[in-house]
Amino acid sequence: MKKVSIIGSGFVGSTTAFTIAMNGLAEEIVIIDINKDKAYGDALDISHGVPLMSPVEVYSGEFSDVKDSDIIIITAGANQKPGETRLDLVKKNVSIFKDMIPKLVKYNKDAIYLIVTNPVDILTYVTLKISGLPKNKVIGSGTVLDSSRYKYLLSKHYGIDPRNIHGYIIGEHGDSEIAAWSLTNIAGTSIDYFCNICNHPCNGQFKEQILNDVRNSAYTIINKKGATYYAVAVAVKRIVECIARDEKSILTVSSYLENKYGLKDVALSVPTIVGKNGVEEVLELPLTEQEKNKLLDSANIMKDIISKLEL
Ligand code: 2OP
Repeated sequence: MKKVSIIGSGFVGSTTAFTIAMNGLAEEIVIIDINKDKAYGDALDISHGVPLMSPVEVYSGEFSDVKDSDIIIITAGANQKPGETRLDLVKKNVSIFKDMIPKLVKYNKDAIYLIVTNPVDILTYVTLKISGLPKNKVIGSGTVLDSSRYKYLLSKHYGIDPRNIHGYIIGEHGDSEIAAWSLTNIAGTSIDYFCNICNHPCNGQFKEQILNDVRNSAYTIINKKGATYYAVAVAVKRIVECIARDEKSILTVSSYLENKYGLKDVALSVPTIVGKNGVEEVLELPLTEQEKNKLLDSANIMKDIISKLEL
């Protein structure tokens, strides 16, 4: 990948720049922030490590520098304070996006736009609608992080490598997200089967507890240290890697849904094939009726917010 632009040099943007540089995923990384000193300082700080990593040019710039980027990662906007939900950020961040997206699109209509700012599903939808970009090129980081948290928690419960656990958190990256238990498997077996044969029994509350812990992860971290940024940066890096290497991996990114799971005109996360074109294919997998209904509830929460936006 030649060039990645990162808009917003807060905790998430700067950690993402560092993570992408560390993983040798781009030849050039430009960091853009209204606080030019912060962007400059972050670029310089990362650059000082470059002689010790794969070659990459890291610098700070203006909106016009997004020109020629393959991916534009947007992390700019207000972030959650203790006691706030992601949806509490709608007003502030939609208005930032309405101002910023046309400015970026003016310089680059060809990049993949990867939205990370919360509420990510709403802002993915807003970006698509106001940019006029093709729908495969507007991606939200969605529940890639939540699916990772889910696998981490399951791996701790069972005492096994999280890479042997396949499973997805779908729906909103937020309070209405759903654990797709019916699609979760370990060593090729269903979660219920695995619970019966493993040495770590799953009691009646096991599934509720895991999902609650996933949902509350960000609240817990924000209460402790004010923000989350390491794991989300790794999630963004993973999405960038799939695009850069045309991996066609299945990730729970957020994207525009049209006639999938009975949903339309909304952006949400479901298992999606990600490759060089961004969203290669949104998969429609066999969820249970209960999971489908919860996905519909999550979509309705998003649609209700979207209906109040002036786009
Ligand atoms: C997270 O889940 C706050 O959305 C951010 O860590």
